[in-house]
This record gives sequence, C-alpha cells and structure tokens, in this order.
Amino acid sequence: MLTTDCAFLENELMDVVRLFRQRPQSVLHSFRYENGVFYNDFTVDGESRSFLDQAEIQNELEYKRQERRFAKLALYELLSDKFKETMPWGALTGIRPTKLAYMELESGNDFRPLFEKMRVKKDNIELVARIVESQKGIYEKRDGNTDFFVSLPFCPTKCAYCSFITAPIDKTRAFLEPYLACLEKEIAAAKESVGNLRSVYIGGGTPFALDVPELERVLKATAFIRESCNPTCEYTVEAGRPDVFSEEKLRLLKDYGVTRICINPQTFSDATLATIGRKHTVADFYRAYEMTDKYDFSINIDLIAGLAGERVETFQKGVSLAAKLQADNVTVHCLCLKSGAKLKEETNYLEGEFISDMVGSSREILSSSGYVPYYMYRQKYQAGNNENVGWTKENKACVYNVDVMEETTDNVAVGANAVSKRVRNKTNLITRFASQKDLKTYIENVDTLIAKKRKFFL
Ligand SMILES: C[S@@+](CC[C@H](N)C(=O)[O-])C[C@H]1O[C@@H](n2cnc3c(N)ncnc32)[C@H](O)[C@@H]1O
Ligand code: SF4
Repeated sequence: MLTTDCAFLENELMDVVRLFRQRPQSVLHSFRYENGVFYNDFTVDGESRSFLDQAEIQNELEYKRQERRFAKLALYELLSDKFKETMPWGALTGIRPTKLAYMELESGNDFRPLFEKMRVKKDNIELVARIVESQKGIYEKRDGNTDFFVSLPFCPTKCAYCSFITAPIDKTRAFLEPYLACLEKEIAAAKESVGNLRSVYIGGGTPFALDVPELERVLKATAFIRESCNPTCEYTVEAGRPDVFSEEKLRLLKDYGVTRICINPQTFSDATLATIGRKHTVADFYRAYEMTDKYDFSINIDLIAGLAGERVETFQKGVSLAAKLQADNVTVHCLCLKSGAKLKEETNYLEGEFISDMVGSSREILSSSGYVPYYMYRQKYQAGNNENVGWTKENKACVYNVDVMEETTDNVAVGANAVSKRVRNKTNLITRFASQKDLKTYIENVDTLIAKKRKFFL
C-alpha cells in the first residue's frame, strides 16, 4: 500500500506508517531534488500534500540523510494530522536516539534542534540529554576496545511474552554437554581477537538454568579471557529468573570474580507472573534478592511495562518496590511482542497511552529515588512506540550496556545465536558476524565458525 519513486526510502517510510495504530489504505510518494531544494509529494488515501525543504549538501551521503529526514517528517506530519495521534519519538525511526545525538554533538552541533524538528517530545529530548551526561567517563570511541559476550540460550521454561531464541533446558539437555565443549573451544580461540577488554557478560537465556558443575565449566573457560586481558574489568552474569537462584551458584560466581548480577522480577504482581508463565512468585524474587545481596554484587533488576493488561497503578507500584530495594541498576523495558512470543498470538493491540503513562511514572519514581538514566534503546513493535531505559545509581552504570547500545566497541561474542561486532570508529563502519541460531547446527559447525570468526576480527 506504499509506493515511492525513491527506492532507498521505501522501508523507512513504511516504518513511519507502522508507528500509527490506524493505517492508511494507500500512500503515494514522489521525490525530486532541484537546485538545493527537496520536493516531497505525498498522496495519502486520495489527499495530496507537497513539502519543500532546503539544505546544504556536501556529498551523496549527506543528500540521502537529508532526504530521509525530510520525507519521514513530512509523512509523519501527514499521518499525525490525519489520525490525530502524536508519537513519543516523533518521526525518529531506525536510529538509536542517543547515537543520533552523539552524531550531532560530534559534528559540533547541539542535538536538540534536530530532535525538535523531528517532533520528538520534550521529555524525551531531556531523557537523551541526561543519558549523554551520565555516559561521560564511560562512552569511549577507541578502536580495539572490546567487550566479551558468552551466550547461554537455555531457560527453566519459556515465558509467554519472550521471543528470544532460547529453549527450556529439560528439552535441550541432550545438547548441553556438547554445547559446553564448543563454548570452551570458542572461548580459548577468541582470546586473540580481544583487544582492550572493558567488560565480560554471560547472558541468555537464563545462565542460572544450568547446574553448578555446568555453570562452573563456563566460568572457568571465561576466566581465561578475563584474567589474561583485564582481571579487574566489569563481569556480569545475567543470572535471570528468581526461581533458579541458589547459594551455591552465587558463591561460585563470587569465587570467579563476577561483579554484577541480574535478578529479574519483571513485575511485582503474582497474578501477572502467572499469566505470563514466569513460574515464580514475587516472594521468590525477594528470596533470591536477599540471598544475592549478601555477596556484595552490583545488582540489576529488569521490569517490563505493558504486561498482560496491567494497569498503570500496578506497574507504578512495581517500580516503587523495585526502587525501594536501592539496587544499583533498574532496567525498564516496554513490552515488545515479536513473532515467536506465545502472547503475540493472543494479543491484538496494546494501549499505547497506558504504556506512555507507565514510562512517565517510572521516570518520576526512579529519578526521585536517586537513579539517573544511562542507556536506552527502541525496538520495532514496542508497545506505544516507547523505549527501554537502563537506570543507575551514581557511578554504577554498566559499561557493557553502554558499549553495546552506543556501538563504540568491538563485541567478541561466543555461543549459539551470538552476534559479534567489529567497530571502526574512524570510518564509522560497523560489521557483524552472526553465529548459528540453533544449538545442533552451532555444535556441528563450531570449527568452521571459529576459523571464520578469527578472520572476521583480523
Ligand atoms: C535476554 S532477557 C534474559 C533475562 C532472563 N532470562 C529473565 O527472564 O530473567 C533480558 C530481558 O529482556 C526483557 N524482555 C524479554 N522479552 C521481552 C519482551 N517481549 N518485551 C520487552 N522486554 C522483554 C526482560 O525484561 C528480560 O529480563
Ligand atoms: S524472559 Fe528470560 S527466562 Fe523467560 S523465556 Fe525469555 S530469556 Fe527465558
């Protein structure tokens, strides 16, 4: 239903259309550029409007960038008028807001005028400014900086909203032993690709779905990288669901020098937990939290706004309870239903305004409880077109999250469904290397994978 004579814009214009709950029947777009003027003509459901913008252009890249902005903004304004709806991030799609802000700042401009022009709401412009401020001292564009990621795509059971490629461990146990052997091989081989190591992250899935001896194999192999590259760097284990926590696992993590742990309630409502199939209670979360707190790790708590018909008050209460614990980090996600999530088939439409209210109240509660926002990202299909925000106590920001979101750092990632990243800051070139997604194919191809990845990082 969208036709444009400007091929490089087709997907991006569709992204703008998808922002809106209501959809036009047809969008026709034509573009021409003459003597420094960008002409964008749109016909939406039979109604035509023309837009005319001027900009100084130095090269082809700049020309495309400007046209992208003008055309998206024009279509956004048209649809916003037609459907009487505005979006929290205006016409911004397809680029992380903080990345765009840094691009502007690094060209010597304040980023605010561009954000205002793209109709980003004031509180979101403020959010980006606060994030850039709290990343000072962490954000670093230096080639060779590296983060190390180990993927453990196993979970106790599958949660209904989740589309991550992970599998219940009782169904994949047969793959676990060979998987761990492959990880050991990959980790040993990866050392030569690691430059200036800034952080290590063992994620999932749910790393604590593994039993103690299995977990110890992963920690032992990872210790080789950390100890030989940077023995004091940040070291996170995304332990995960509270129902699989034990003293023995926590002690093991402490023995191997882990510094940061994620314990994720997602919500503080037992009714919601039951609906989303998390198979644990709020009391289980508190038990896991108290158990962990004794070991003096930095703790992160994940929450999700928009779960299973939760009201704004239920969510607010959850954020207040999370803030009361005064964990070092709290991450507020907005529900994002992709294919693969069981809930996707059962949910038609999410109340965007509710989610925006939830997000707004999480900002107030966390700000007044001593937290600052330190990273953010948006995803397609995110409820209410909002964003995920990581909050931190002062000087406790997670380096790994900042590096990954701002894409300033190489990511050497091992395991199935791990995506390695090579960043060349001087030329702004980012290349990715994805491992096989499914366990069996990963295990069968690990030797070739190691060879290819070594080449990728050469
Ligand atoms: C890679 S998951 C792993 C966390 C861990 N397995 C757990 O569930 O506790 C990281 C986080 O992503 C968030 N998440 C997962 N599915 C989501 C969804 N559909 N929408 C929004 N956030 C989601 C959750 O907050 C989760 O804690
Ligand atoms: S939310 Fe976490 S525990 Fe649940 S299925 Fe996804 S990765 Fe696994």
